[in-house]
Amino acid sequence: MTKQSDSRMWGGRFTEQTDAFVEAFTASVEFDQRLAMVDIQGSQAHAKMLNKIGVLTEEELTSIEKGLSSIKNEVESGRFEWSVQLEDVHMNIEARLTQLIGVAGKKLHTGRSRNDQIATDIRLYLRDEIKVCQQFIRQFQHGLLDLASKHADTIMPGFTHLQVAQPITFGHHLLAWFEMLERDFGRLAGCAKRMNILPLGSAALAGTSYPLDRQYTADLLDFSAPSRNSLDAVSDRDFAIEFCADAAICMTHLSRMSEEMVIWSSAQFNFIVLPDRYCTGSSIMPQKKNPDVPELVRGKSGRVFGHLMSLLTLMKSQTLAYNKDNQEDKEPLFDTLDTLQGSLRAFADMVPNLQVKKGSMYKAAKQGFATATDLADYLVNKGLPFRDSHEVVGIAVAYAIDKGKDLSECSLKELKTFHDSIEQDVFEVLTLEGSVNLRNITGGTAPEQVRFQIEQCRKLIS
Ligand code: ARG
Repeated sequence: MTKQSDSRMWGGRFTEQTDAFVEAFTASVEFDQRLAMVDIQGSQAHAKMLNKIGVLTEEELTSIEKGLSSIKNEVESGRFEWSVQLEDVHMNIEARLTQLIGVAGKKLHTGRSRNDQIATDIRLYLRDEIKVCQQFIRQFQHGLLDLASKHADTIMPGFTHLQVAQPITFGHHLLAWFEMLERDFGRLAGCAKRMNILPLGSAALAGTSYPLDRQYTADLLDFSAPSRNSLDAVSDRDFAIEFCADAAICMTHLSRMSEEMVIWSSAQFNFIVLPDRYCTGSSIMPQKKNPDVPELVRGKSGRVFGHLMSLLTLMKSQTLAYNKDNQEDKEPLFDTLDTLQGSLRAFADMVPNLQVKKGSMYKAAKQGFATATDLADYLVNKGLPFRDSHEVVGIAVAYAIDKGKDLSECSLKELKTFHDSIEQDVFEVLTLEGSVNLRNITGGTAPEQVRFQIEQCRKLIS
């Protein structure tokens, strides 16, 4: 019994039509059409290679190239008609190609499967998008360095347990953020490098009987090499997990920065003023200016952590090689990209434009006995063992709390009652400036050190 030709590309062996609901349920075109440009890029390279090995004639190649380039135009201009019946981005494009150029279009899929095609597409796509993330990170880092150089001497309280600990410079605090981002940048670079191998040629799972020139395709697409194992190449999604893990860590950093900015911009702290264009007001309380963007970024970190968990769970029970489960990798991955890029983009502009309230920072550093450690170190320099000096200073702090003043506001006579080795020069270390200047050690908070570190950082990212 012969059968009418089937509109589905794989319909040959089927005797009934797919249930309409199942068709929609299994289709991915709604979200994977985002891969159209890289899908075309991959097909262009594959076609060139097929021509090189004699599978496609010169004329066939030319017509495939022409067809693909008009499809590209259609997609870019929004004229391309996506069809759920054609399931995914690959079959939509291939069907259109055949419609446009006829039988040559049907030859493009020689020696290729959607399994190695999708594995290639995601790599191509993610590779470009990682570069965009990295550009935003660099832009943000440059902004941080510019702001840090304006605030190498700006004193603020440094905290541990969110209790005033020791005075630091605001520039130093910003350089800490720079370091977090530098690690994020490096992680993304590592991820991009590891995933840059070419799956095409792995076909469905076992490789192909056509003598494909995989190295040639790899060169055309700028992959470092063809994959060594076809089973792994079509089924591996480590790179997507790795990217989401890197994004999750980066979002953790942005979320921590957000938390600080939310606290600092409160009336109680008043350390910074966020640019108006990054805030909104309240519909009922006229005085309000809410730090929406930092709050939202802090909140958005949750969905990225969730996507990482989705991908780990997606992969954990899959046998080799490709399984349809893998289609579920795209939405978490795309949303992670959008969230990370959006958050970085906002911060890269918002943070360097913070208004810094030096006076409030300074005042806050004066409260909370931020220079108590300096007094302890001073006594150690006068010959006391550190544990004893710690005890002496503790008693002095209790006294000052009782009197309602800072250590630097106590007279020499008062201080001498705690230890008679205390002399006039103690006031050099009890001031905030004296305290930060003393921490002139590699990585320390002294303004001189901060300026030096800014120069180092500039070289690192130039
Ligand atoms: N839409 C599929 C995906 O996203 C493409 C590969 C489909 N392969 C297959 N054998 N059904 O993973």
